[in-house]
Amino acid sequence: MGTGDTAQAFLIAGLAAATAGCGLAAPGRTMHSMGEVRTKFNPGGIWTDDAGKPIQAHGGGILLVDGVWYWHGEDKSPDDWNGTGAGRTSWVRCYSSRDLLNWHDEGVALAAVRDRAVHDLSPGRVVERPKVLFNRRTGKYVMWMHIDTHDYKYARTGVAVSLSPAGPFEYLESFRPDGAESRDMTVWQDADGTAYLLHSSEGNATLHISRLAADYLHPAGEFVRAFEGRYREAPAVFSHAGRYYIVSSHCTGWKPNEAEYAVADAMLGPWTVAGNPCAGTDEQRKLTFESQSTYVLPVPGKPGRFIFMADRWNAGNLPDSRYVWLPLRVADGKVEIVWRDAWEMR
Ligand code: GAL
Repeated sequence: MGTGDTAQAFLIAGLAAATAGCGLAAPGRTMHSMGEVRTKFNPGGIWTDDAGKPIQAHGGGILLVDGVWYWHGEDKSPDDWNGTGAGRTSWVRCYSSRDLLNWHDEGVALAAVRDRAVHDLSPGRVVERPKVLFNRRTGKYVMWMHIDTHDYKYARTGVAVSLSPAGPFEYLESFRPDGAESRDMTVWQDADGTAYLLHSSEGNATLHISRLAADYLHPAGEFVRAFEGRYREAPAVFSHAGRYYIVSSHCTGWKPNEAEYAVADAMLGPWTVAGNPCAGTDEQRKLTFESQSTYVLPVPGKPGRFIFMADRWNAGNLPDSRYVWLPLRVADGKVEIVWRDAWEMR
């Protein structure tokens, strides 16, 4: 593993400057008002927003809209969390940023439903791993998420829509995609607009990859079974040089385990398992830097360079779970994620 920060650093300096005058109103403009200005990623540290509050966007994903990054994730904030979920008002929170380091809280993207006896978004339910895509045909932002009961037996996927990336999103429904169980999940949008749902199914033993209908609101009816019997969850997808990659974890609940990645020439496979993408000590490699994958974000203008986004869950205090964002690079078709105590994109 190389030690030179320069070699590993991402050169997107000027991104904020380049996008600052893009004409969008509020998002990102008020940042730095109260919190400190961040210049580096601190994997595993407490990450506060521009008002100085710890960011609540666990199991999240990122969407770039007109030069503004939107981070949607699970809101497990102490205000809403008392172990039973009874005090919960918010499921998904959204943050905006122009530099990926300094984030402004855009508020509740998906609210809890408190006035119905039984609802997918009732405070005592499970809503995890929200991911948002923009559908060019309908002009709608579509959020997909894992919906469950506390025993994780409901095993469904939920869909919500909004006309704005920050929400609020209107919840539509949940279902078992293609009739199959669905727990950890993510979505992927190809350059031609075709989108896919990737979800742990069949008791988490096998990952299903399901093509979505043109409006992204339902599966289109075509899916493949991947990594049969390998118990992969927490899928995070990206593409590079015409190939597709999935980084995933094994199934050990909130405890970290060894990541594995796989490669394919098409989203519907066939997929080839390629091994552990983490570089470093045995301990770092075995436990994915004490974290679990959630998303891989391409760095614009830097082919082969990505940010690996992962969660360091704190099972005893889920709101205090930390974010582990690390440099991921693809070189000669091989994926490598390296640990950095602190790093910056230059
Ligand atoms: C993990 C999963 C998380 C959450 C957790 C519950 O394996 O990736 O999203 O569901 O289990 O124990």
